[in-house]
Amino acid sequence: MREVFLLSGEHPSLPREEVKAVLEALEVGYRVVKEVDSALILYADMNISIKNSLRDRLAFTKQFGKLLVILDSRDTLKEKLSEIDPPGVIGRFRATAVRIRGCCRWIRRTDLERELGSWILSKNPRAKVDLDNPNIEVVALLTSDLIIIFLKEYEIDRALFKIKEVAARPFVHPASMRPTLARAMVNLARTKQNDVVLDPFVGVGGIALEALSIGAKVIGADINSRMLFETKSNLIAYGFLEGFKLMLGNALDLDLEDKVDRIVTDPPYGRISKPIGFSSNELVRKFVEKSPDYLRKGGWIAISSPEGYLNENLFIDSGYEPVQSFYIREHRSLIRHLWIARLP
Ligand SMILES: C[S@@+](CC[C@H](N)C(=O)[O-])C[C@H]1O[C@@H](n2cnc3c(N)ncnc32)[C@H](O)[C@@H]1O
Repeated sequence: MREVFLLSGEHPSLPREEVKAVLEALEVGYRVVKEVDSALILYADMNISIKNSLRDRLAFTKQFGKLLVILDSRDTLKEKLSEIDPPGVIGRFRATAVRIRGCCRWIRRTDLERELGSWILSKNPRAKVDLDNPNIEVVALLTSDLIIIFLKEYEIDRALFKIKEVAARPFVHPASMRPTLARAMVNLARTKQNDVVLDPFVGVGGIALEALSIGAKVIGADINSRMLFETKSNLIAYGFLEGFKLMLGNALDLDLEDKVDRIVTDPPYGRISKPIGFSSNELVRKFVEKSPDYLRKGGWIAISSPEGYLNENLFIDSGYEPVQSFYIREHRSLIRHLWIARLP
C-alpha cells in the first residue's frame, strides 16, 4: 500500500525522518515513493496495529492515509479524474483540499473540493456529502505543483502534546524542551517498546515523559537532587507510577547496573542551566565520549546541543556511526543541533 503522510511544516526534514524512524523501530520495511514539501509518500505493508502505533507515536505528522492518485496540478482535473475509479464510499463523506505554502494558486480550493465530490458521487450515487460529520474523508493536498489525493485514515491528535506543554507541568525547568521535539528525539532514536532509555541530564523529565508514553522504560539521572524530585512529581502527574528509575549522579560517572538500549538527552547549555566543573560545551563533548560505556552494542543515541558544540568526528572517534543531524531554530539565541547516532 502506498501511504501519504501529511506532515507538520515546522521543519523541512525532521517530520519525514521521524516517520521513517518509527517504521524502523516497529521493524516495518518501507520504500520511499515521493518526498515533497510537507508530505511523504511511501510504500509499506502496514496492518492496523502498526497504523495505531504510528498514530500514537508521531509528533510531527498531522494525518495519514491511503494514496488514491497523484496529479500534476496543471492537469485538467475533470478529465484526469474521469480516467480513475474513485474509492468506494458508503454513507457520509467530505472532500477537503489543503494548500501547502501557497502552492498552485490557479486552483481554488472550493473548486477542487467540488470536483472531488462529483468524482466520488459519480460511482457512489448513494453516498452523501457531510461537511460536519463524515465517516470518510478524501483529502487533496496541493504541494510542490502536485495534487496528491488520499483517503484519510488517521488524524493525529497533536493537542495531546499541549497537555504536556512545558508550562502546563507541575514543575517547570526554564530549559525544558517542548514535548513534540522530545517525542521526536525518542522516535529518531528508533526506540522500541520496553527498551531502556537513559536520560542522564533528566532535568524535570520532559524526555522521560515521552519515552514512557511510547512504552519504553526510563533511567533518569541528574546532578541536582531537586530535579529528581520534580521529575518524579511530573511523571506521576501524567499517570506514570512505574517504569522509571531516577538516580542522583554526574552524567560522566554513572553507576548503571546494565547497559541501556537508548540514550536520549538534552544536556545543559549556556547560562540557563550551568553545569558543575566544566563549560557546558566541554561537558557535552565529554559526555559523548563517555556515553558508549552506558550503551549496548546496536544501541542508539539522540542528543541535542547548541549549534557548534558537537561534530561528526567526535561521534566517529567515540565509536559511533552518525546517522542523521538536524538544525532546529528555537529562538534568536538558540539553534539546536540534534544528532542521531548508532553504536555498531
Ligand atoms: C537542559 S536541562 C535538561 C532539561 C530536560 N530535558 C527537561 O525536559 O527538563 C539540563 C539538566 O542537566 C543537569 N546537569 C548539569 N550538569 C550535570 C551533570 N554533570 N550530570 C548530570 N546532570 C547534570 C542540570 O541539573 C539540568 O537539570
